[in-house]
Amino acid sequence: MTQTPTQAAPVITPADKSMDDIVALCKRRGFVFPASEIYGGINGFWDYGPLGIELKNNLRDRWWRDMVTCPPDGPDGRPLDIVGLDSAIIQNPKVWEASGHLAGFADPMRKCQKCGHFVREDQLWEILATNSKWFDDLLQQFTPHTGEIDTLRLMEWAKRKGKKYAPNLALVRNPEVTMSWFAQRINGQPDAPPDVQELVRYLATEQLHATGLQEPCPLCGGELGDAQPFKLMFESYAGLTQTEDSKVYLRPETAQGIFTNYKNVLDTMRVKMPFGIAQVGKSFRNEVTPRNYIFRSREFEQMEMEWFCHPDEAKQWYEFWVQQRHDWWVSVGVNPANLIRREHDCDELAHYSTACADIEYQYPFTAPGYGELEGIAHRGDYDLSKHQEHARLKLEYFDQQRKEAGEPEDKFRYMPHVIEPAAGLTRGMLVLLCEAYTPDDSRPSKVFMKFDPSMAPIKAAIFPLVNKDGMPEKAEELYRQLRKRWAVQMDVKQNIGKRYARMDEAGTPYCFTIDSDSLADDTVTVRDRDTAGQQRINISQVEQYLADRIDGV
Ligand code: GAP
Repeated sequence: MTQTPTQAAPVITPADKSMDDIVALCKRRGFVFPASEIYGGINGFWDYGPLGIELKNNLRDRWWRDMVTCPPDGPDGRPLDIVGLDSAIIQNPKVWEASGHLAGFADPMRKCQKCGHFVREDQLWEILATNSKWFDDLLQQFTPHTGEIDTLRLMEWAKRKGKKYAPNLALVRNPEVTMSWFAQRINGQPDAPPDVQELVRYLATEQLHATGLQEPCPLCGGELGDAQPFKLMFESYAGLTQTEDSKVYLRPETAQGIFTNYKNVLDTMRVKMPFGIAQVGKSFRNEVTPRNYIFRSREFEQMEMEWFCHPDEAKQWYEFWVQQRHDWWVSVGVNPANLIRREHDCDELAHYSTACADIEYQYPFTAPGYGELEGIAHRGDYDLSKHQEHARLKLEYFDQQRKEAGEPEDKFRYMPHVIEPAAGLTRGMLVLLCEAYTPDDSRPSKVFMKFDPSMAPIKAAIFPLVNKDGMPEKAEELYRQLRKRWAVQMDVKQNIGKRYARMDEAGTPYCFTIDSDSLADDTVTVRDRDTAGQQRINISQVEQYLADRIDGV
């Protein structure tokens, strides 16, 4: 085996990566396309291209393997029991009544009185800071060289840039009165200078009819109305008539299909407490502000597992699953340095949850902060109790063995508690894309996708060095052998450098090249994606070489 020197891979942090570049690569290489792109797209919906669907399926299949087919051993070393399910997306609306989604699944929204734009109450300042054309520009007027608030400069801004970018901001509509009110307030509190939010709220407030500080619309600067709940579930109708009685909802989470089948599973499978039911599938939320690419979309996929257990053991299982799920993300190639565990504060908990920890990832758009990847919720007996009440069906668990062992009644007859690891499949895919994206100026492609080999959409590429002299035939023989086991590609076009560059962007971990020596001595060149190093191996070793590196997880 001969080997050429390898180069060390550069160390890149999430903050060094540009989301625009990642999105462009995903489009260029066929990972993700905007849905209905030829008609101008549709906000919050995405299509997954040929490489995207391979990546998504690899992540989904690994989750299924590690959660359902071969789940981990429990804390006591015993194998865990988890079964799978695929429930309907549309259910009887009573399901959503019982789960609390019909009454409670809504975001507080505020409507701009001037331009009609809606903004989520809890994201207003975040949106202003990251996604408002005028806000950043206005802030720069607060920090002139003197370090003081420069009234003239603000007035000047209002008359020029403000008119263009934030025509409905009070400062722009009525600069003189707004500035005099502003100056009065600022002078009035020399010991407690206002913070940036307060300053902006003064500038969004007209003196004459002010009833309190106004918050500005991120789009036009106009005044926002009071928060109103905005329902997140998509509605449709089942049947010929379109009346209230035939109204149905697209599921906003896969979890409820599991709870409604809890008894079916108990009655048909030989599962005993504790056990889990897992499901992967589409969910739909009419998100107010879909954003950050596929991070928050209106149609997305989830991988959820409901773990049913005795209430006394729930806390221990909660800890177990938080750790398991963190380690699982590391096992699919996420650098642990880019992951954190964050416990929810009481006021953040969903209506069903008594404790929740998020596994968060440092996305390029959150860096140096983090954003949610997966939530592990302690749902208590909320869901089963609600379905028991609404469906009028006993859902308590009866443990014959514990009864025969003479244990007290609360140990053998109880409503199970539930621990729920709920991950986004499409969001997980975004994490793999961000994590893999590795700028490298030394390569012709200037970037490569460093997927864990088991996650890579294409496992290997086979190249004849030139498209003649018997090389394509030999390459095709190898290609036909490997494609029986893996997603591989044969590529005969362009020079070899361009072919490597294409595979670097696709994240293909190994490229095998057939050259004139291959015809003479049956060897091939293997090029390693991460180091760009090359070595020669015998063609008969190729399948095992790949198996060791791809299936060996
Ligand atoms: N059954 C519990 C549940 O659905 P969640 O935190 O709302 O909990 C679980 O969702 C996971 O689903 C999130 O951690 C995230 O990965 C993913 N997810 C939620 N809303 C999403 C959206 N609009 N777009 C993409 N992924 C989303």
